[in-house]
Amino acid sequence: MKKLTFGYALTGSFCTFERSLTQMEYIISEGIDILPIMSFNASKTDTRFGKAREFIDTIETLTGKKVIRTLEDAEPIGPRNMTDLMIVLPCTGNTLAKLANGIYDTPVTLAVKSHLRNQKPVLIGVSTNDALSYSAKNIGALLGYKNYYFIPMRQDDFINKPHSIVCDFERVLEAALYALEAKQIEPLIF
Ligand SMILES: Cc1cc2nc3c(=O)[nH]c(=O)nc-3n(C[C@H](O)[C@H](O)[C@H](O)COP(=O)(O)O)c2cc1C
Repeated sequence: MKKLTFGYALTGSFCTFERSLTQMEYIISEGIDILPIMSFNASKTDTRFGKAREFIDTIETLTGKKVIRTLEDAEPIGPRNMTDLMIVLPCTGNTLAKLANGIYDTPVTLAVKSHLRNQKPVLIGVSTNDALSYSAKNIGALLGYKNYYFIPMRQDDFINKPHSIVCDFERVLEAALYALEAKQIEPLIF
């Protein structure tokens, strides 16, 4: 059987990079190839959560592939049929807004667009503290779009960040296998 390849895109929710990389490693250990992608902001910004270059090096070591971090490298993903599923984990409020509105000016949003041309599933892992305010309409829009699926998510700190939602990183592979069968894993909100 042909080995599955998941596109795996990180956007600028820097505090969740470690959790995302743990899941990337787990997916690889299950025998799935990963094509790594980072948004411009994810691949260029050093924060208190780590240096961009170090995250890129770790991802390239884990996957054995160069991280896609330009528009020209993201564009062929669809035409060359490079991915069976596209995961965006973590997905920022910014990237949710772009995907919901057809704006493709980052390697991650263009990778999603390019992948979608083959009518294959996209799996979103929300991580944003405006999920229940400005981003709510974008999550709602994507829930209604064809080929979009979500990793189960919850309010991570409703007392101090009442609009914040973060997905359950540990369920990404399970959600991915559902999405490959055109199914949304449930419960979506827990
Ligand atoms: C340290 C730091 C942490 C951030 N965490 C988040 C986050 O968890 N969720 C989010 O939506 N944006 C977060 N942002 C803001 C995004 O990085 C910013 O909106 C950026 O434009 C996202 O671009 P991208 O979606 O193309 O990666 C954070 C920014 C910084 C500097």
